[in-house]
Amino acid sequence: MSLADVLNSELPIVQAPMAGVQGSELAAAVCDAGGLGSLPCATLGPDGIRAELTRITTLTNGPYNVNFFCHTAPPPDAERDKAWRLRLRPYYEELGLDPDARPSGPTRSPFDADAADVLDEFRPPVVSFHFGLPSVELLARVKAWGSTVLASATTIDEARWLHDGGADVIIAQGLEAGGHRGMFLTDDLTTQVSTLTLVPQVVAAVDVPVIASGGIADARAVAAALALGAEGVQVGTAYLRCPEATTSPVHRAALASEDSRHTALTNVFSGRPARGLVNRAMRELGAMRDDVPAFPLASAAVAPLRAAAEAQGRGDFSWMWAGQNTSGCREVGAGEITRDLAAGLP
Ligand SMILES: Cc1cc2nc3c(=O)[nH]c(=O)nc-3n(C[C@H](O)[C@H](O)[C@H](O)COP(=O)(O)O)c2cc1C
Repeated sequence: MSLADVLNSELPIVQAPMAGVQGSELAAAVCDAGGLGSLPCATLGPDGIRAELTRITTLTNGPYNVNFFCHTAPPPDAERDKAWRLRLRPYYEELGLDPDARPSGPTRSPFDADAADVLDEFRPPVVSFHFGLPSVELLARVKAWGSTVLASATTIDEARWLHDGGADVIIAQGLEAGGHRGMFLTDDLTTQVSTLTLVPQVVAAVDVPVIASGGIADARAVAAALALGAEGVQVGTAYLRCPEATTSPVHRAALASEDSRHTALTNVFSGRPARGLVNRAMRELGAMRDDVPAFPLASAAVAPLRAAAEAQGRGDFSWMWAGQNTSGCREVGAGEITRDLAAGLP
């Protein structure tokens, strides 16, 4: 089956799900332009998922994608957490915050039976997974109601694993991509390669459609991805300045400035490597550290710093996820971004 058959959208252009910076408005605008809009659900509980799904189905008639994480939730580690809070203590003092307060940070939950119960009410046309796949039972439920399953691979081994596990479409996520690396069979960053390197090898390794992702910012890159054998593209960063996105003011300002040219992989904001704009926290703490709490627990101690600095108009402690290629970020509607990307299609 071709990608067009399984996605059912007019265009093989997927707006990447981007937890924390978008909801239904962005997704629906992309759907209305003929692309496949995505709803990120990793930070929403069952009620939040239901509210967003209700909203997107009233905003658009087009097919849409619902996205989840599949990580294993780590057990709490009090020692690690204490050491991490101690490392951040000088910043708490600088910002006048109580270092012993225990506010909970943003939670990111893996796909579970409660989320599946909500999805069952809506039976979304497409469901995508990051960090592997859910359990065999949960995946069977998703497939039983007819949803097409997309999953992210960052290596050829991961692509084969996802294919064997039942994914209908593989998203090949190159190293340029913004946000979390979808890696799940390894935590060795030296295995991570660029979109140009990854896509043709994944296309050769699996016999399901492949979507290219990472660094695709304009029509020429869409044409290049298709020339490499991909049947479609998934684009995130280019949509970050759209009015329909909920990207924060400090993130928008950084994307519009020369700072947007410098991104790096960092684990200091969540516990897992993710690509974001380089800022003070990454420079001073070191972008990749061995002592951060496991994903997603590292966020809790950074979240108050982020909020306090942002209240002063600074993104010093903000996770401002972005891919290496920010040249496509424009302050225009998501429909326009989608149509401009589509000019690269045959
Ligand atoms: C701000 C931001 C948040 C992201 N959040 C998610 C997410 O919730 N789920 C997901 O599967 N991918 C997420 N990603 C990664 C995208 O799926 C995709 O791999 C990436 O955006 C593609 O590269 P590009 O940003 O260069 O277009 C995120 C990316 C960004 C930039």
